[in-house]
Amino acid sequence: MKVYAINGSPRKNKNTATLLQKALEGVKEAAKDKEIETEIINLYDLNYTGCKSCFACKRLGGVSYGKCAVKDDIQEVLEKVSQADGIVFGSPIYLGTITGQLQSFIERLIFPYLVYDENYSTLSPKKMPTAFIYTMNAPEEVMNKLGYLKTFDHIESTIEHIFTKPLAMYSNNTYQFDDYSKYKSNAFSEEAKAAHRKIQFPLDCQKAFELGASLIK
Ligand SMILES: Cc1cc2nc3c(=O)[nH]c(=O)nc-3n(C[C@H](O)[C@H](O)[C@H](O)COP(=O)(O)O)c2cc1C
Repeated sequence: MKVYAINGSPRKNKNTATLLQKALEGVKEAAKDKEIETEIINLYDLNYTGCKSCFACKRLGGVSYGKCAVKDDIQEVLEKVSQADGIVFGSPIYLGTITGQLQSFIERLIFPYLVYDENYSTLSPKKMPTAFIYTMNAPEEVMNKLGYLKTFDHIESTIEHIFTKPLAMYSNNTYQFDDYSKYKSNAFSEEAKAAHRKIQFPLDCQKAFELGASLIK
């Protein structure tokens, strides 16, 4: 069995990556007696684009029907992730949505499986469990006020259509810099941020761990 975490953050050891790692620890813990491998894929290490609209994946009788025909670093990843026993997507929120890198990855992963028939049926080889971890500067009440949940719901519906409905969690009011005094950032109170980081982030890590465990159960 194999479970992948897809890191949509350019940073490999900050908020999103830490929570993804915790989720994979939860997977391992829940799967104790089963043989299970986990892997984190850092999208920003790879050279790829979003869908190029070539429609080779929809061409009747074509060699790439139901598959992405674009040849770049993501091709191999698409193949292995499509056969996974679980996928945990993770992204920081950039300008109100997931990062461009993760959006491009999702286009490439999902669009070839979407059939343009009456029911928009799917060709995905597996209906593996999925989860989504979002991290953002916005505190929870701001996230709600700005309507982020509607955006997340839309992303999750697309994933649900092709695979399964993602379990979702949010980590709000995240720490963006190691030292707030070095950056123009008077929009935020460093004190409040530090307190939130100290108290809430460990709870978010625990939540991510439980999310990973639930994915396998
Ligand atoms: C380009 C950019 C845009 C951002 N836009 C938003 C935003 O619209 N809303 C928000 O709440 N946070 C925003 N943030 C903050 C990040 O989402 C937040 O710090 C996140 O937890 C960073 O994740 P990381 O530590 O895994 O990189 C933005 C950060 C960057 C760099």
